[in-house]
Amino acid sequence: MRPIIPLLTALGLVAAENGIDAWLRYAALPCDVQKAASIPAGIVALNGSETSPVFTAGQELHKGILGIHHKDLVVTNTPTNGSSITIGTVDAFTSTGGALPEIDLKGDGFWLSIKNDSVQIVGQNERGALYGTFQYLSMLAQGNFTEVAYESNPSAPIRWVNQWDNMDDTGTHGSIERGYAGPSIFFADGLIVEDLTRVSQYARLMASIGLNGIIVNNVNANVNLLNSTNMAGLGRIADAMRPWGVRMGISLNFDSPRTLGKLTTADPLDEGVIQWWGDIATDLHDHVPDFAGVLVKANSESQPGPLTYNRTLADGANLFARAIKPHGDAIVMFRAFVYDNKINQTNWKADRANAAVDFFRDLDGKFDDNVVVQIKYGPIDFQVREPVSPLFGHLEQTGSVIELQVTQEYLGQQCHLVYLPPLWKTILNFDMKVDNKPSLVRDIVSGERFNQKLAGYAAVVNVGTNTTWLGNHLAMSNFYAYGRLAWEPTSDDVSILEDWTRLTFGSDRAIIDTITKMSMESWPAHENYTGNLGIQSLTDITGPHYGPKPQSQDGNGWGQWTRADANSIGMDRTVWNGTGYSGQYSSEVAAMYEDVETTPDDLLLWFHHVPYTQKLKSGKTVIQHFYDAHYDGAAVAQTFPKQWEAVKGLIDTERYDEVAFRLEYQAGHALVWRDAINDFYFNMSSIKDEQDRVGNHPWRIEAEDMELDGYTVIQVDPFETASGFHGIRTTSNTTAGTATATLDERFQAGTYDIAVNYFDVKGGRANYEIFLNNGSLGTWIGNHEDKLGYTPSSYPDGHSATRIYFRGVQAATGDVLRIVGRPDGGEQAPLDYVSVLPAGTID
Ligand code: GCU
Repeated sequence: MRPIIPLLTALGLVAAENGIDAWLRYAALPCDVQKAASIPAGIVALNGSETSPVFTAGQELHKGILGIHHKDLVVTNTPTNGSSITIGTVDAFTSTGGALPEIDLKGDGFWLSIKNDSVQIVGQNERGALYGTFQYLSMLAQGNFTEVAYESNPSAPIRWVNQWDNMDDTGTHGSIERGYAGPSIFFADGLIVEDLTRVSQYARLMASIGLNGIIVNNVNANVNLLNSTNMAGLGRIADAMRPWGVRMGISLNFDSPRTLGKLTTADPLDEGVIQWWGDIATDLHDHVPDFAGVLVKANSESQPGPLTYNRTLADGANLFARAIKPHGDAIVMFRAFVYDNKINQTNWKADRANAAVDFFRDLDGKFDDNVVVQIKYGPIDFQVREPVSPLFGHLEQTGSVIELQVTQEYLGQQCHLVYLPPLWKTILNFDMKVDNKPSLVRDIVSGERFNQKLAGYAAVVNVGTNTTWLGNHLAMSNFYAYGRLAWEPTSDDVSILEDWTRLTFGSDRAIIDTITKMSMESWPAHENYTGNLGIQSLTDITGPHYGPKPQSQDGNGWGQWTRADANSIGMDRTVWNGTGYSGQYSSEVAAMYEDVETTPDDLLLWFHHVPYTQKLKSGKTVIQHFYDAHYDGAAVAQTFPKQWEAVKGLIDTERYDEVAFRLEYQAGHALVWRDAINDFYFNMSSIKDEQDRVGNHPWRIEAEDMELDGYTVIQVDPFETASGFHGIRTTSNTTAGTATATLDERFQAGTYDIAVNYFDVKGGRANYEIFLNNGSLGTWIGNHEDKLGYTPSSYPDGHSATRIYFRGVQAATGDVLRIVGRPDGGEQAPLDYVSVLPAGTID
């Protein structure tokens, strides 16, 4: 294989890549850069056991240096005096005669020294040595040959990922809750898969960014994971991940003693239940001797839990803590996502956001010492903007783990580029000011602020079998950055991104600049075109959490309310007049949020119920800010496809095209979002946009206004997700329909970009062709099933609404535009509108 890369490069071609190696590609450096480097002559890994992370480190280093430098180094496990890279633990290194300076390594930390042709990578433990090796490899792969000597320690001991993978029934691939990259790499047919190649590749990615633990199954746990076949399977998963220093744990279903064990109760204080869990823990330990721990979702979203038996949440957590205690250092991660999803909106004081503190505040000190509480970053649910969960300020005697989400459940589901570290950093850098002392969230979850041994990070990642892992090459920057921030939360989000970009796509300045600019613009843009001023994501919360559907927030028991009416909007979470939520923060923070004047604009509607005409600090009214922000955010997304063109030819065509497709899709979907939200609030408030853009689309031809043959007009639900609130679909499931329009005097002779908005629904691959005066402009297929990897909806709505362009078309008044749609299966070639756009116009 080796000569292929230089040959392709010489020909100006870049080899196709499918993303499987993510940022660990070890792409060859240019020859002149290779020559400048002094690479030691051999590798000494001070552990010869194949399951040891130090052994793995030696192998990985060999592979990396072969790829990056085309040097085939010999790996041994006996120390040498010659030029070498030595990898080992402090104990192994010093006992074989190695000398170290004064260093203070914490668990998983490492010492890295690069001097001339001698490199020492010394870990506090085996895992640390592997992390140091990946750090060295990352430098080499980026062409960084600086001499260094430093120690590096992780900010927190717990740095885990959570997979929400399901053990579906026989005959199905394991699905993943909120996973957007194909089925599970762990489960199929209700069992653990035989071939665990992807599992160890996943562990390799995790290790390379310092992650040390994983929960492999959904928090909504299936009890069958605990049957004897699957117990053995769990042992195999742990074996596959162990050489990478990744420890495995599982989510438990609280009701298992009843559903699996056939007991009459799951009461945490019942002797039979205690015994049952004790036996399970023993069994788990027999199969997985270094079992990491259990994650428990209880009394949440209608699930049973200790409260079902009139016991406290601490009783529930301690049940598991005591069951696993005899078997090593496994821990219980008890989720604070405990709330009632059937609360009553007619009660002005009711508030789901209050739940975590209400449930947990008085339990501080009541948990056993091997329990940590896992807390979502905000009090609701991974929204585009939330205040920090106030619970972080209340647990002084129990460790807190912050739960982040790499999977973009509410943030575009990997179909939209949203670089998340800037969001995470607003949370991690927030000062809770507990007891009037500096209390940054990152210092709370490091264990430092309250002096806790157990604390840290968990992120819902949800990789799938897709070779890109997350379904979108660019989404992987979030995974990479998650590990880097869990290790060192003060790291700069731009430099992390630049490292990732160099490792993933190469060091060309144009690549780095393009990806950095787009990524750093992406979260603010997404917030702008989805939900701003702290109103939350405004997506369909009772559906797939993807496209716009603001009305789904209200009128149900889920408590993600906006309380929008004809005059006003927002949740009153003040103490003086509202739900009292602001009082859950320390006094200084509470005072800031209590007062509308001192609440930051980006959280205004989170904390206050105000008229649409309320003036913001910017001087704009709330409603005008909504309109403007949605136009601004969508406009930024329109620039992404063009920005991406700058990297054409600099990266392989395969990855270039896949990303290009998604950015173009995002640009179209951002317009769907913009129009839906603006139309919805215009409709509700009757307040016009000062710039008269909302509801006014000068370049559109509505499908329902076209001459239809074999097509029929439909009312789209929710109304705001279709232009003019209507669309069309073919009258039959089998016969093509035609929609025709003659261009009126708006369209003077010239060059136009023609955009067609249609709905790509689940259950078929409809075929479309567009003509101008009988000349075909092109065809397309409603195949997001294949191109996005999934289709979020079976209906024409805000999830399925999408746009395709035919650019540079010569057209004039009187020309006849025609679209022929051929239905397929349940997809009746639905259309919304056509925009005939003069150059530079967005409509
Ligand atoms: C969200 C998400 C669910 C998930 C839940 C949880 O509500 O939509 O799919 O089960 O969070 O975190 O437990």
